[in-house]
Order: sequence, then C-alpha cells, then structure tokens
Amino acid sequence: MFLPTLVSLFFISSATVRASPCVAFDANWNLLAFNLNGKDWNAGTQDTWSSSQFLVIMRTRGLTFCLCRHCSHRHHNIQPTVSNFRHPYITLTFFLHRPFDAANTTCYLSQYANAIYAINADSKNPSSLYIYNAAAKSWSMQAVNAGSFDYTSFDAILDHDTNVFYALSQGNLFSLDMGSLNAANSTPLSWTNDEQVPYPSDYVPVMALAQNHIHFLDVPNVPAGSADIFVIHYSYFQPQSQAYPLPDGSAFPTTYGQVASFFQADNTVQQEFAFIPADSSATYVVNVETNTTQALAAPATKDSKATYFAGVTALVQLTSNGTVSYLPYLEGNTSTNIAATWATVSNLAAAAPPSSSSSSSSSGSSGNTSGSHSTTSPSTTASGAALGASVQYSVFITCVLCFAAFAV
Ligand SMILES: *[C@@H]1O[C@H](CO)[C@@H](O)[C@H](O)[C@H]1NC(C)=O
Ligand SMILES: *[C@@H]1O[C@H](CO)[C@@H](O)[C@H](O)[C@H]1NC(C)=O
Ligand SMILES: *[C@@H]1O[C@H](CO)[C@@H](O)[C@H](O)[C@H]1NC(C)=O
Ligand SMILES: *[C@@H]1O[C@H](CO)[C@@H](O)[C@H](O)[C@H]1NC(C)=O
Ligand SMILES: *[C@@H]1O[C@H](CO)[C@@H](O)[C@H](O)[C@H]1NC(C)=O
Repeated sequence: MFLPTLVSLFFISSATVRASPCVAFDANWNLLAFNLNGKDWNAGTQDTWSSSQFLVIMRTRGLTFCLCRHCSHRHHNIQPTVSNFRHPYITLTFFLHRPFDAANTTCYLSQYANAIYAINADSKNPSSLYIYNAAAKSWSMQAVNAGSFDYTSFDAILDHDTNVFYALSQGNLFSLDMGSLNAANSTPLSWTNDEQVPYPSDYVPVMALAQNHIHFLDVPNVPAGSADIFVIHYSYFQPQSQAYPLPDGSAFPTTYGQVASFFQADNTVQQEFAFIPADSSATYVVNVETNTTQALAAPATKDSKATYFAGVTALVQLTSNGTVSYLPYLEGNTSTNIAATWATVSNLAAAAPPSSSSSSSSSGSSGNTSGSHSTTSPSTTASGAALGASVQYSVFITCVLCFAAFAV
C-alpha cells in the first residue's frame, strides 16, 4: 500500500520545471555545467572539450530517497542529507539535490576553497545559497538571511582574496562574507547592507572584478571605455572614473552587457575581465594593470541573454538555449588573442544538446536499465547519456525493491 505513494513522490519530485543552467570552472579548470538539460556535467579541462569524453557529476534533481544502505553507498556522489532514519534492517536516506529550479541562477568560483557558489538556485529557498564542493563532488545548502537584499534584482562579484560577495541591489551595496566555506555551515550567513552607491537609481549594474577593485560599467554619465571603481579593501568609491582605451584610441561602448574575470593559475587576484555588450558585437578584455582594452572576436552566437564565465585560458559562453562555446585566451599574448575564434565545447554539445526553445530543463527520468557503471568514470557521450537515466532508474528500482522487501 505504500508503493503508490513512493512512486508518486518520486515522479513529483522530478517534475520538469523551468530553470536556468549555469557554467563555472573549478579551481583545477574543469568546466562544470550545472542543470544543462537537467543534469550536471564535468566537461574536463580545455584540452578535452573537443573530445567525446565527459564526466557526469550528478544527474538527478528533486528529492529521492532510498530504503537501504546499499544505494546510499553506491551513489555516493549524490549528496545524502536532510535526514537519516536508521533501523537495524532499514536505512531511510533522503537525498537532497540542489534543485536549480529558479530563474537567473548565477555561479561563482571561490578559487581558494575550490567551491562553486550558486545564487538563485532554489525557488523554494530563494535566499539560500548552494555550495558545490568540487573536490568532494558534493552539494550543500547554506542558509542566508537576505535582509533588504533583493535577490531578484542585483549584480554581484565574489572577491578573490577575501571571499566576500559584493552586490549592488536597489541602489545599495551589499556584502556577504563566505569565510572559506566549501560546504554549508549550520549558522546562517547574512547579506549586509553596507552603503548607498553614488549612482543614479535607474542604474542597472554591470560589475566586473579585477585587482580587488569592482569596476562598474555602463554607469550613466561615465564616458565610453571608462569604469567607475570601488576599492574593496578601503570600502571606497573612487570619485573619478578610470579609462581603459583600445590601442587605436577607441573605447568599449556604454551599454549593458555581461562580464567575467579571468583567473590566475597561481591563485592570485584577477587582473583582467571580459566585457561582452548585450548585442554580442565584440568581446572586450580589459587589463587593469596596463589600463588597456583588447577587442577580440565577437561571440559566434549572438544572444543578449547569454552568460559568461572565464577560467585562466578560456572565456566560456552559455547561451539561453544551452549552447556552450569558448574563446581561447592567453594572457599577455595579444597576437594570439586577436586571432582566436569561438568554438563549441563539443563534449557538452554531444552530451547535452541545446534545446530548440529556451533554457528550461527536463528531468531525466526516462528509464534505460541497461548497463552497469560508475558515474564518476569517463564514458563516451552516447553511453554516458544513457547511463545517466540508468543510474536514476536503478536507484529508484533498488529503493522500491528494498522497501518491498522490508515492508512485507
Ligand atoms: C530574472 O531576471 C529578470 C531580468 O533581470 C527579472 O525580470 C526577473 O524578475 C528575475 N526573476 C527572478 C525570479 O529573479
Ligand atoms: C592605470 O591607471 C591608474 C589610475 O589612473 C594609475 O595609477 C596607473 O599608474 C595606471 N597604470 C599604467 C600602467 O598606466
Ligand atoms: C604567443 O603565443 C604563440 C602561440 O602559442 C607563441 O608562439 C608566441 O611565442 C607567444 N608570444 C608571446 C609574446 O608570448
Ligand atoms: C540555439 O541558439 C542559436 C543562436 O540563437 C542557434 O543558432 C541554434 O540553432 C539554437 N539551437 C537549437 C537547437 O535551436
Ligand atoms: C539504452 O542504452 C543502451 C546503451 O546506449 C542502448 O544500446 C539501448 O538501445 C538503450 N535502450 C533504450 C530502451 O533506450
């Protein structure tokens, strides 16, 4: 009599929801794609993107539960939390998956912690922040008091050296100190309203990070090619803007767009950031050491809703239909950068083909029961995709069988 409940809970929990994926690098420069076609992927380092190899880091969403020790051990890459009920014969483990069911999910790399922080990942816990521990391949949910921070309208950077988020929301600068967390702490964190920003109230923030300075682009009345600066370590809004001219004397435009800071392999502070205007007309890379800008190839896919994430040697674009492309980048090598062109991340494209509509996700609950495998070992694209469904299905079947065995 409990079986129908079990089955319906399972399917309700994996219902399809409209959600936004995000891409990020871990501190070893593996490209991770979260909630791309409803699954999480580890596309590996840049040298493997054109191959057919990929790793699956976690496949399912929602709440799944197992009734035996066997499955909780076997599926160790799924984060078991929420509650564990232990009985001499029955272990009831709830698996909390980060839902990624909210709009506008944004991801940030804490390079020191080798953790990825996701804001706006969970529509039911909108102020919570999800932490992916890249080394342990585990998720946890960090409770956060939003206070007056409006997580439906903000832009944010994660400062490299202090691991503090700075966000502009509703005309105020907020901060959220992440300490050195690579997993959630039971003590809730809080967004702090630090001060009002000296910008017009209709300013839609475009925030870039380099050298512990927040660069505000597209600030009204600031000339093209210049940024207003907030010096993090002194909590100081620099009164004058800073120019970053191109070699020919021209300037990046005053327009809304996306930004991504390039990381340094030696874990020092970022020195450069990419700025991609919303019309995808060019890729600008601003160097705050030399006060210059390079104009590089425009994204091959023009998409005003695309998001970007930079590693050390690549800028990655995620479009609204789930296409992931990259521009190779070599710091300090202008001739190579100017000649570089955008290419598709082939292994992700094969594993998680772009949807024909928008970035909504589908949940992989289709059953393919063939094969046995480990979800953490490399597999070819075709069987890898099929195996994902298999894992989920086999968890389910195992649970049902365990439950049936103990319930009778
Ligand atoms: C997502 O972003 C859009 C555009 O900025 C905004 O209009 C919308 O309210 C946001 N939704 C949520 C749930 O944050
Ligand atoms: C960049 O601009 C800042 C501020 O105007 C200045 O202090 C610095 O010397 C400049 N750097 C170079 C390399 O010109
Ligand atoms: C730029 O990169 C190319 C290709 O890797 C290399 O041959 C060249 O020496 C580099 N130039 C500089 C100035 O680093
Ligand atoms: C995704 O969007 C791009 C750019 O709009 C388009 O070229 C591509 O065909 C789309 N892919 C699919 C599967 O619709
Ligand atoms: C399941 O996946 C295997 C391996 O990719 C494939 O050969 C088989 O046709 C699939 N079965 C179904 C029912 O999709």
